Amino acid sequence: MRWKVVVGVCAGIAVYKACELVRLFTESGHEVRVVPTRDALRFVGEPTWAALSGNPVSAEVWDAVHEVPHVRIGQSADLVVVAPATADVLARAAAGLANDLLTNTLLTARCPVVFAPAMHTEMWEHPATQANVATLRSRGAIVIEPAVGRLTGADTGKGRLPEPQQIFEVCRGVLRGGSADLAGRHVVISAGGTREAIDPVRFIGNRSSGLQGYALARTALARGAEVTLVSANVALPDPAGAKVVRVESAIQLREAVLAAAESADAVVMAAAVADFRPVRQSTGKIKKTADDPDPIYLTKNPDILQELGEVRAARRADGLPYPEVIVGFAAETEDMIANGQAKLRRKGCDLLVVNQVGENLAFGTPDNAAVVLVAGGDPVEIPRGPKEDLAGIVWNLVGARLV
Ligand code: CTP
Repeated sequence: MRWKVVVGVCAGIAVYKACELVRLFTESGHEVRVVPTRDALRFVGEPTWAALSGNPVSAEVWDAVHEVPHVRIGQSADLVVVAPATADVLARAAAGLANDLLTNTLLTARCPVVFAPAMHTEMWEHPATQANVATLRSRGAIVIEPAVGRLTGADTGKGRLPEPQQIFEVCRGVLRGGSADLAGRHVVISAGGTREAIDPVRFIGNRSSGLQGYALARTALARGAEVTLVSANVALPDPAGAKVVRVESAIQLREAVLAAAESADAVVMAAAVADFRPVRQSTGKIKKTADDPDPIYLTKNPDILQELGEVRAARRADGLPYPEVIVGFAAETEDMIANGQAKLRRKGCDLLVVNQVGENLAFGTPDNAAVVLVAGGDPVEIPRGPKEDLAGIVWNLVGARLV
């Protein structure tokens, strides 16, 4: 499908990354119209944008007036993405100003709008910017959280433009799904597999790659959600806009998930959490001096999913808010449905995504097949397909339960 994409670019040093973003759209066959602000052209000039997009470029409403560009460009777009979005453009968009071609385009666009802000940390954190972001989100725009990292010059912090590929993925999700039905919702996703330390260099781990959890995060972001991703030992790029909390062990994952759950609408426990951990962790590396090594005694880890359900029940009894939807994942090697139904009841969650694991199934593969067991409802079969498809169905079921 060929989409009409407007790429708005503003005056920030990160504007050079927008060249790559334009490329990603054109190389995927989409039609791109670049609309820069006047000052953005101080960083990267009109010929670059025109050559990359294959379309005329102007920052003004006064060029090619016979084509009425100040309304046509926005009206005919399938998506407007502003990257980098400066504090200034966020303020102008929130106020509804129309003092250049880009803000006119934003006012006339009826399609999804994505902002990828980039600025210094102080500007991003300023209450004025935060209020503008909240206003834009309340109107349905998707504002990607800036990344943390190197900013202009030597300083580092939150405010960095996410990588073009990540912005592109968010846009692709929006174009595919076409809706921002999770806008204004905070979702917490755990992903990956925990590691339980034996000594400073060894651990008990599992085969989880984090692919499914990251697909859930990208899909939720593309549908407008604020995402906290609690990531256990995953070697994948951070999804653009997610708040990523890195953990290693089940105890750390529990702490991070329970803290994030306080302000969440939904929690999805896609992580493979170790059921047991060594009772004792050696502070030094265990040497092979003895012929018979010491046994490693294990103790049970807390069941985080079950605890979420219990905390929720207690909060509900007191009339206090807690995530409305709790989703578990279950990996089963046999009797998928019977084991899954028992687990759904035991863990007190609303949805349980059950997939069969074994050789070449689920772990580390891009595809997944599953059955979603629904508390008080019929199971939903998900045929084998990309993990993104499964993620989309999970969010449909979650969304339907959010009032
Ligand atoms: N889970 C959790 N805390 C644990 C273990 C698992 O929160 N200590 C969560 C996982 O994130 C997943 C779900 O529980 O969402 C199911 O995990 P699974 O390992 O299949 O279930 P178990 O309760 O460990 O049951 P069993 O291993 O006996 O099948």
